[in-house]
Parts: sequence; structure tokens; C-alpha cells
Amino acid sequence: MNKNNFLNLETIEKASEFVANQIISLVNSKPNCVLGLATGSTPLKVYEYLIEDYQKNKTNYENVITFNLDEYVGLDKKYADKSYHYFMNKNLFSKININLNNTYFPDEKNSEKYDTLIKSKGGIDFQILGIGINGHIGFNEPPADLNSKTRIVELTDSTIKANSRFFNEESDVPNRAVSMGLWSILQAKQIFLMAFGKSKKNAIEKLYKLNDFDPNLPASSLIKKDNVIVIVDQESSFY
Ligand code: PGA
Repeated sequence: MNKNNFLNLETIEKASEFVANQIISLVNSKPNCVLGLATGSTPLKVYEYLIEDYQKNKTNYENVITFNLDEYVGLDKKYADKSYHYFMNKNLFSKININLNNTYFPDEKNSEKYDTLIKSKGGIDFQILGIGINGHIGFNEPPADLNSKTRIVELTDSTIKANSRFFNEESDVPNRAVSMGLWSILQAKQIFLMAFGKSKKNAIEKLYKLNDFDPNLPASSLIKKDNVIVIVDQESSFY
């Protein structure tokens, strides 16, 4: 990618609508497409637009396949509603006509087979990514490995702190997760990374200025790929 692959769409609404429209076109043109999905605050509005469109236009998700990027490991039962499964069901899957048997999440048991499973379904056509304040994508924390596959990872203090907003105590945030690796993510045919809000500005500025992969900014693994679009809002944009 180059500097032209960065798009400032000014507001979260415009940026999310743009990404949602790309997904809707893909689902219409390839009804059995494979979507790579993310959780967190960033994609929430994209999912809202998809639901709104589904209600209005009946876009058909019956044969769509999805792979989520990551999931916590060792989440206490009392926090079952913080799992990424729960998030996806609540914010998207229960509101469109997707077949839950076609929705996949990495877990402790399937982590070694997850990349093969993705490949067996034809590979990810369209991957959505957020970015951590430390530049992580998925739960690929710095220093990151360009060849990493789906596996169990340790979360860094900065990620635990950022995610503690969803828990009663910072110590309740799991310190492990299972995540698609950088290698796994880079196999996607098209990638849209979204960054909203001023907390992401620093990571976006570093990404924009780098010309090569820097393990300290895992998102920079995307630099060598052409089919990547980085979408920012006014607050996360510095240019
Ligand atoms: P956020 O998280 O969308 O909640 O900001 C993004 C991330 O940590 O990857």
C-alpha cells in the first residue's frame, strides 16, 4: 500500500457507511463470500449499517461465511457477555439471516487448524480490522511476528488497560487470547483497517510514516500489501 491507500472520511458515520457498502456489494455479487470480522468499538457502526440495509433491502447472508479474528481465553463465567462470540451474536448475527454454522471463531482447541479451515472455505475475501493504541491488529501485540499463524497469545498491559473499560476490575480482563496471526490476516484478498478517535492518531501517524514492517507496530505488516485501505476519521487523522 502507499499513502493513497489512506482515506480520511471525516466521521465515523461516513467511514462506517463506506465500509458497510463495500460488504453489501460483495455479498450481493458473491453470496457465499468469506468475511473476516472484528469486534471492539470500531466496527460497531458498520454492523449497524449492515443491519439497517438487511431490514430495508433484505441482503441475503444465508450462504455467507465469517471468521472472527480473535477471542479471549479463560474468561470468567460471570463475564460470558464480554466474549467476542456474544458480541457478534448481539451486534450482528442475531439481526441478519446468517447461518450460525457458517460463523467461526478461533478457540484454544481449534487454533492450530483455524488457518487451514479458512483456506478450505476459499480464504477471506474481505477482512475488517480495527487497530489498538499500541498498533496491534487482532491480538497481535508488539513485538509482532510477520509469520505468525492463529495461536494463543499473551495480552500486553496496554491492551488489558484499554479493554478494562468493559470489566469491573482491570484484574478481571483475561491476560490470554487466541488470535489470527499476521500471516493469517495477510492472506485476505482485501483488507479495510479502520481507526477512529484521537487515541488512534499516534498509531496511524506511525503507520503512515513507515515504509517497511516494524515489529513494534504490528499494523505495519500491511504495508507490503496492495489491497489494503486505511480509513480514518478526522480525530485519528494527522494529515
Ligand atoms: P477498539 O479496539 O475498536 O475497541 O478501539 C480495537 C483494537 O484493540 O484492535
